[in-house]
Amino acid sequence: VPFDLRSTLAERHGENYALHQQLLNPQLANVLQTLGFDHFYTRGEGCYLWDDQGDRYFDTLAGFGVFALGRNHPAVKAALHDALDLDLPNLVQMDCALLAGLLAEQLVARAHDGIERAVFTNSGAEAVETAIKFARQATGRSRILFADHAFHGLTTGALALNGSKGFQQGFGPLLPGVTAVPFGDLEAVQREVARGDVAAFVVEPIQGKGVHLATAGYWQGVQEALHAKGSLLVADEVQTGLGRTGRFFAYEHYGIRPDIVTVSKALSGGYIPVGAMLASDAIVRSVHRSMSKALKHSSTFSRNQLAMVAGLATLATLDDEDLVAHTAKVGEQLRTALQGLADRYELFTDVRGEGLMIGIEFGLPEDRALRRRFRLLELMRKGLFTQAIVLPLFHRHKIITQVAADDVNIIKLIPSLVMGSDEIDLLVGALDDVLADAHAGNGLFVDAGKQLAGGAWKTRSR
Ligand SMILES: Cc1ncc(COP(=O)(O)O)c(C=O)c1O
Repeated sequence: VPFDLRSTLAERHGENYALHQQLLNPQLANVLQTLGFDHFYTRGEGCYLWDDQGDRYFDTLAGFGVFALGRNHPAVKAALHDALDLDLPNLVQMDCALLAGLLAEQLVARAHDGIERAVFTNSGAEAVETAIKFARQATGRSRILFADHAFHGLTTGALALNGSKGFQQGFGPLLPGVTAVPFGDLEAVQREVARGDVAAFVVEPIQGKGVHLATAGYWQGVQEALHAKGSLLVADEVQTGLGRTGRFFAYEHYGIRPDIVTVSKALSGGYIPVGAMLASDAIVRSVHRSMSKALKHSSTFSRNQLAMVAGLATLATLDDEDLVAHTAKVGEQLRTALQGLADRYELFTDVRGEGLMIGIEFGLPEDRALRRRFRLLELMRKGLFTQAIVLPLFHRHKIITQVAADDVNIIKLIPSLVMGSDEIDLLVGALDDVLADAHAGNGLFVDAGKQLAGGAWKTRSR
């Protein structure tokens, strides 16, 4: 029987969680069911999702930052339809396909002038793996620095550069010759680099886990220290790249010129996985140094034509809709509106970020009764207070948010870049409502924490 997508979706609707329980990662299904997040989404458009009850959700997670253009953007969709209809000769391999050249041309043109070539990958982690390999080859050294709290993906090389031990446990031994430095600590970088054996410092310009930022002075000092000793600066822009922070690349905020830049996520247009490592001619040639080394680094699907089309259509759309400038403006408005709440609610302690990569942090208030309540939740489990905010945001206000990392009281907002003032009002109004409850000592709020701590949360909104 030929596969029929529409009838398959209709006939098997609602089996999602049972299938995942039985055949995929059962714990993911358990977590989502425990939180009552086990809705059946049927459609996505822009910054919204719809479930099978017809309810609309504002999604501030955007597929971990994939849907920069919003979901199912018509321009990317049309380009992909064209690619399918044209029966393009994909993955000939013994070929230099035009579309990969065009996407490389577009990416290189958007970077600083020391970036001259692209190596395509299938994911963010693969772009980081590629950066590790090319940095080692180009410098003839092996040691890699990374930052505390870093996240660069979960393949074994990228995992070795992960700042949270929880992700690494049981998978070792991981890549040797890697050293963690505190994020934002220039002296630590200078000290390590002084040994003269560092190939590269792999680092996110704004850290995704917790939304941590460093000063322009730090970044310039880091670049100077690395270059003085022949070490490379690798900016992992997998999450921050393509306009997310109000600049095309986040490194532009700090006036630096990384030697290698990794991108992925948004480049997919939300459709086809793709990533890239961008670097100088010299770095790329250090690996492909002669014809006999033409295939020394490669990956079967890396220049997949649908991925190249999605990338080209995405970049054109970012330009056409002036989305980078829009992101800077809307991000600023959103942070200002959130700061207004932080000024009113003691439990809301910080708003930070650039563009539409925003961290909002909750913490110990002055008021004694509030302090007691906050501490009670934190005693049950660290970060529980913020989970107890995330839950009513979803169940009551139909807004999808996420805690920014394990055991922290930070929500990270990385919505689609197409969001505007309606979504600001929606989010700020909802947070206002939930924080008012938290401050009023409303039982519902504490109940949420208790139920969560006991793993018994199950209040489906239907
Ligand atoms: C900064 C950064 N690097 C790398 C990755 C890994 O990307 P992927 O999940 O596509 O492997 C991520 C994913 O969240 C990321 O945020």
